[in-house]
Amino acid sequence: MEKTQTQKRKTAKTVKSLKNHRKISMLTAYDYPFAKLLDEAGIDIILVGDSLGNVGLGYKNTLPVTLTEMIIHTQAVSRAVNQAMVVTDMPFGTFQQGPKHALSCAIDLIKAGAQAVKIEGAQHLDSIKAIIRAGIPVMGHLGFTPQSVNQLGYSIQGKSKLQTSNIKKDAKRLEKLGCFSVVLELVPPDLAKQVSSSLKIPVIGIGAGPHCDGQVLVTHDLLGLYPNPPSFVKKQANLNPLIKKALQKFIKSI
Ligand code: KIV
Repeated sequence: MEKTQTQKRKTAKTVKSLKNHRKISMLTAYDYPFAKLLDEAGIDIILVGDSLGNVGLGYKNTLPVTLTEMIIHTQAVSRAVNQAMVVTDMPFGTFQQGPKHALSCAIDLIKAGAQAVKIEGAQHLDSIKAIIRAGIPVMGHLGFTPQSVNQLGYSIQGKSKLQTSNIKKDAKRLEKLGCFSVVLELVPPDLAKQVSSSLKIPVIGIGAGPHCDGQVLVTHDLLGLYPNPPSFVKKQANLNPLIKKALQKFIKSI
């Protein structure tokens, strides 16, 4: 029997097995064309991030993003993907209202084509536990967690002794609970190094230095589609002026 599209994709098991073998690559996509480009380029994980809010929908931050929006964009991404693993963010409000609600939201995202969900923070372990118990892989997210921007501001986490110790403890907790990997955002490189080497599951960094098991970025930042990406982003292209030039060429041509 021919393999179905999802059977050929990388899985949580594949991603776990890459630790200590090679670096894991992860980038965001919110729509069909970008997901197809990333998949064909050979990316390991496509994240349907709730950065969809600021990057794709023009919101001020990720907080207004709804489950329905994440479902629609996960469906679009999933239709394009052949070999990468698709992970979708659980948006703000979907995992803070108890395990029953969280599981129901996670199931909706899996039905939309995600193979795993990502959950920010370690405050709602009961929700994470219920989702994992249902057979859904969970990726944790520690350090700077954008859904807590009203509490944290946009700032580096893990600078004080207390924060450092909390991040280390939370990472261990998430691993113990059964998360298959953890994103670590905006923490000092040395802390990221310590967390990566202390866990058996892969740690995927963003603005966390070079020592993690993998790296994730917002694709629009990587490609220079927006003028002011965060300072830790090493752009691989500067597409904004190129696209504008092409558009102006078209306007002039008619
Ligand atoms: O929503 C997102 O794009 C993310 C990544 C930046 C890690 O969570």
